[in-house]
Amino acid sequence: MSDVDTGFLRSLPKAELHLHLEGTLEPELMFQLAERNDITLPYSDVEALRDAYEFGNLQDFLDLYYQGAGVLQTEQDFYDLTWAYLERCAADGVVHVEPFFDPQTHTARSIPMSVQFRGITRALNDGQEKLGISSRLILCFLRHLSEEDAFTTLQQALPWREHFFAVGLDSGEKGNPPAKFQRVFDEVHKLGLKIVAHAGEEGPADYIWQALNLLKVQRVDHGVRCTEDPALVQRLNDTQMPLTVCPLSNTRLKVFTDMSEHNIMQLLEQGLCVTINSDDPAYFGGYLLDNYLAVRDALGMTKAQAIQLARNSFTASFLSEEEKAGHLATLDKLA
Ligand code: HPA
Ligand code: ZN
Repeated sequence: MSDVDTGFLRSLPKAELHLHLEGTLEPELMFQLAERNDITLPYSDVEALRDAYEFGNLQDFLDLYYQGAGVLQTEQDFYDLTWAYLERCAADGVVHVEPFFDPQTHTARSIPMSVQFRGITRALNDGQEKLGISSRLILCFLRHLSEEDAFTTLQQALPWREHFFAVGLDSGEKGNPPAKFQRVFDEVHKLGLKIVAHAGEEGPADYIWQALNLLKVQRVDHGVRCTEDPALVQRLNDTQMPLTVCPLSNTRLKVFTDMSEHNIMQLLEQGLCVTINSDDPAYFGGYLLDNYLAVRDALGMTKAQAIQLARNSFTASFLSEEEKAGHLATLDKLA
């Protein structure tokens, strides 16, 4: 069967479920915000900064990503960041987003939670009104920090409870297992929030088990190392536990040496609920459509597989059953 064409993939209604807002900070915007906030970046220009985006592993990337986020200071900065991402979504046929943000990266620099929430929420509301893009915001705890720090962050976020829908876990995975955060996620659950966690990106399959059994996640972010444990793959398939896979991220961070080695289409064919996402598009060379295209070009993708991936993105979302049904009905008409 022949591969699906680019125009079809662009027009296909899609949801993005694994996207760090701080990872959408393009070098051009980083320099603009640095100038606006009187910050000197350790790079001469946009080209020099882009040239630094060569990563041997997740930590190499995180070092630059946290440094870059330092230019975000005001409510308008958070607005501009989020709005620029939503405009990219509109161009790529993304109709629903569930973006992450990392409040600890900003509160550590004395940027209050209120500034972050106001800027991001205002842009997300404009996204719904002006672009027709729906959203559910996800607050992430940084796993390289302590559980106590996560508890403090949750407390600080409570006044903004109606502005976020779920809590996630990100940052350096190795040595920071989900078990470290079991008690704080018990609290998250009691508050009626949904739960997601990065697991099985650089960390072992056991971290995916912990995310399922200890944190009781509704989705696993990445999860690609599940193939190291056949019983785990079986469990993920039996429960249709969604995996938010990020192909360009995985190759840029050397989780897979080359896109031709990526396991996403193999997992899709086995029946798992895998989805395609962009993670940190400003750093990894592409937004959502670019990720679909990279997978198609390296691994092949039929029209039916593309529709299945888009279906999975809505099924795995935190939209209501009625909202999901509406998107799935649109996709059915394309089959
Ligand atoms: N993994 C963990 N933490 C992150 C990532 C990622 O891919 N991107 C931004 N924070
Ligand atoms: Zn991520």
